[in-house]
Amino acid sequence: MPDSGRPVVQENMLDNAQVMRALERRLVAHIAAGTTDCGAAAMRVSASEYADPARLEAEKRELFRKLPLVAGFSCEIPNPGDVMLFEAAGPSIVVARGRDGTVRAFLNMCMHRGAQVVKECGNRKLMTCRFHGWSYDLEGRLVGMPSEGDFPGEDRDRLRLVQVPAGEWGGLIFVKAHAGEERIDVAAWLGEMAPLIARFNLGGAKPVKSDRIDIDTNWKYALNTYGESYHFGTLHPTTFSPAAFTNTNLYDRLGRHYRVTFSQRAQGDLVGKDESQWPAPPVYGGSHYIFPNTIIYGAPVEGGGTFLHMYRLYPGEAPGKSFTIMSCYRGGDVPASISDDVIAQTHDFIEMVVRTEDYSISAEGQRNLECAPPGHALVFGKNEIALQNVHRDIAEAIGMPLT
Ligand code: FES
Ligand SMILES: [Fe+2]
Repeated sequence: MPDSGRPVVQENMLDNAQVMRALERRLVAHIAAGTTDCGAAAMRVSASEYADPARLEAEKRELFRKLPLVAGFSCEIPNPGDVMLFEAAGPSIVVARGRDGTVRAFLNMCMHRGAQVVKECGNRKLMTCRFHGWSYDLEGRLVGMPSEGDFPGEDRDRLRLVQVPAGEWGGLIFVKAHAGEERIDVAAWLGEMAPLIARFNLGGAKPVKSDRIDIDTNWKYALNTYGESYHFGTLHPTTFSPAAFTNTNLYDRLGRHYRVTFSQRAQGDLVGKDESQWPAPPVYGGSHYIFPNTIIYGAPVEGGGTFLHMYRLYPGEAPGKSFTIMSCYRGGDVPASISDDVIAQTHDFIEMVVRTEDYSISAEGQRNLECAPPGHALVFGKNEIALQNVHRDIAEAIGMPLT
């Protein structure tokens, strides 16, 4: 299997500036040579990857119902009693921070007749169903049951909310969208990606804005647009391209996760210059893909600190339908003098570009692939190694070989 084979783990030994400098060194070498990180060969995949209903069902079942998924940043429910909803993967799930500070998650399903117990995020002591008023504490115990005498033989202990697996690590909350009481070992799930995520200090972040974008394209087609810079000059001539080189990026495979680091135009000035003259801190813009559907992007804010963006992509009701939840956060290192509006404006710009450029062309491609002749295949270049590996890994995870 093609793999960049970079010794990413060794980055653990370096501080943030050293890591960014090492990445910058690799980028500047690519800029100088007109190259990019590559796999071994181009790869063909069937159009049915994006259009086969059986594949979509397998992805929903094997990826979105079984694997750990990012439910949100810890900073979205920072205090005991804070509750949020996570509904994008299928079942409505309520995620609550208990009085002991532990995050737990439950099916948002009242044990009386199944209504949704929580309708909106907020802080509360109890979660009370608005149908008949059954109340649950933050550990999911049924603590209030109007006219309890009308339920003879029913035991409150057996009427707890159904728990789902949850875990919290490094400022991220994960859940699995099925019943279960296990704690998710997030660090183990992230593996080699964990120290890279830890560098963002997500625990110190603050949520600023979130949007949902509905798209007429397969979720993997949309996901593919985040994994290569080959399209920057042609699809984004006036938006992203002025800031970043085309077809010049780093790719690091981290198990089923990956990091893609984009080259900034300013780094072009470093070619041929002695490193002692390179400005500090190094410029950095990179996407961290967490299998199967999440990308966390970090980039410097003008004036200091880190802009954090999270893109979570989900399948819709048909192979050609999907949606993205795009959320932005201010890094804990952003100076107080920079307002949330600055962070929100960056979010709005990226959202506009992704929606009107990346996702617009994704919908066109999807329509064509759904109507393509039988046996039609598309081709990923060796420069689209991130896409190649994502498709290989998804195929393996759902138990349906690529065709
Ligand atoms: S369905 Fe929730 S109290 Fe009746
Ligand atoms: Fe793009």
